[in-house]
Amino acid sequence: MAEVHEWWQKGIIYQVYPRSYLDSNGDGVGDLTGVISRLDYLKWLGVDAVWLSPIYPSPMADFGYDVSDYCDVHPLFGSLADFDRLVAEAHRRDLRVVLDFVPNHTADQHAWFQESRSSCDNPKRDWYIWRDPAPGGGPPNNWLSNFGGPAWTFDPATGQYYYHAFLNKQPDLNWRNPVLRHAMHDVLRFWMDRGVDGFRVDVIWHIGKDDQFRDNPRNPHYQPGQNPHHELVSTYEADHPDIHSIIREMRQVLDAYPSRMMVGEIYLPVHKLVTYYGDGGPTGVHMPFNFQLITMPWNAAAVCAAVKQYEESLPEYGWPNWVLGNHDNARLASRIGAAQARVAAMLLLTLRGTPTMYYGEEIGMTNVPIPPDRVQDPFEKNVPGIGLGRDPERTPMQWDSSPNGGFAPEGVTPWLPLAADYERVNVVAQREDPRSMLSLYRRLIDLRRAEPALSIGRFEPLECHDDVLIFVRFDENRRLMVALNFSSTPRTIDLASLVRAPARRILLSTHLDRASDAVTSATISLRPDEGLILQL
Ligand code: GLC
Repeated sequence: MAEVHEWWQKGIIYQVYPRSYLDSNGDGVGDLTGVISRLDYLKWLGVDAVWLSPIYPSPMADFGYDVSDYCDVHPLFGSLADFDRLVAEAHRRDLRVVLDFVPNHTADQHAWFQESRSSCDNPKRDWYIWRDPAPGGGPPNNWLSNFGGPAWTFDPATGQYYYHAFLNKQPDLNWRNPVLRHAMHDVLRFWMDRGVDGFRVDVIWHIGKDDQFRDNPRNPHYQPGQNPHHELVSTYEADHPDIHSIIREMRQVLDAYPSRMMVGEIYLPVHKLVTYYGDGGPTGVHMPFNFQLITMPWNAAAVCAAVKQYEESLPEYGWPNWVLGNHDNARLASRIGAAQARVAAMLLLTLRGTPTMYYGEEIGMTNVPIPPDRVQDPFEKNVPGIGLGRDPERTPMQWDSSPNGGFAPEGVTPWLPLAADYERVNVVAQREDPRSMLSLYRRLIDLRRAEPALSIGRFEPLECHDDVLIFVRFDENRRLMVALNFSSTPRTIDLASLVRAPARRILLSTHLDRASDAVTSATISLRPDEGLILQL
């Protein structure tokens, strides 16, 4: 019997940063009604699931990643009724809805933390991480916040410190407490009962910390001027082995519902990353996000080595996945340039494993410079001037050439500035241009949907040298070769030495100008920054 693949294996995930997608009510911030009005666009683009960054009530110290109520919607984004409408409208179009679940920390305004900090014997005291000062005074250990400064804040009311891996307005929850775990499981059920198809789980590798709270070692390679969090090696603050039993319980909660999925945000080396699929069986997250294409240098040799290592490291029950961008990292086109961004799009949509796209990638949006008086990101505010801020990749979606780019009504000031090039780089303009980035994404997605060899087929690395990466995707009916030129000069591929049967036809070029060309010679040339999909 043929293997059955779930929607999250066959499909493409598209991340929406709701603040920046579409502002339907003219307050400068995107909202759920805005997202609903673009579901037809997402369907047209061809993606399968929409992941929404947090939409919960929040003081917005970290733009929603500081949740003050896990079971409601922030009025800025709409209401629970709007959310229900979003789910119904998405499902009507056969689109899935994935929510951001933020289990590591809450906002300091969350009722749980208010209770927890009220006294040492409050029943919720142990829902968070409280410690006495170190014997000589000062914080309990040397751990640092990911957003700069110490990770412990003293609370004079009770004379103890609380731990926060991020802002001091984001106290960490204590997942070793079973009552807290059950409360969080109920949150998952609350949203699944409303029809949510899955969760992207925020910093999931952080929920397990050292139970002895040992000091982190110093990083001998640290240079002044770098991210201050990297002064120490994060040996003890995350990825504790206990984490896997905590995730197993979450997985059981999801498995009680049909076809639900969780994908975990995890920045760890591959050998550790793959342990999050579960030990000895699929008991972990369905997919630990694989961020290698974001974190490694962009060249054919590095990508080739990473793909091979990843493929070889996956457990037999581990479904792969690839990510090119998100709301925490510089825009792809700014990292590797507009020409290579097209090669990257072909790579993402032809590799084996679920692709996750970030809104705006499909039109080649770039980082937007943010004037100092418009900075929003707390990371930039805490550690200014060294390029850590994330506002540049969170700017409003560029829909058309009207004032505010179709993101918000004319006259409104969007929460972050629009890109200067929005009149040219936008969905409407690119829809009409058959060679645009948007046209390329559509063609790639179309092909991936039409060819099971690409979506669920097998992977065979062929060759990587001289800036070219070549691999084959195949199933019992089809063999497709992908050849990517990572350089800005032409390359020639010797087909005869690579494959027994010669290529028959070009299915797609990143330049969108030579599909259906028959291949008659034993060699094929790749133009600068060109990727090709060939049918063998
Ligand atoms: C994750 C989110 C990031 C957030 C952080 C703290 O890394 O992706 O945006 O700031 O968690 O919640």
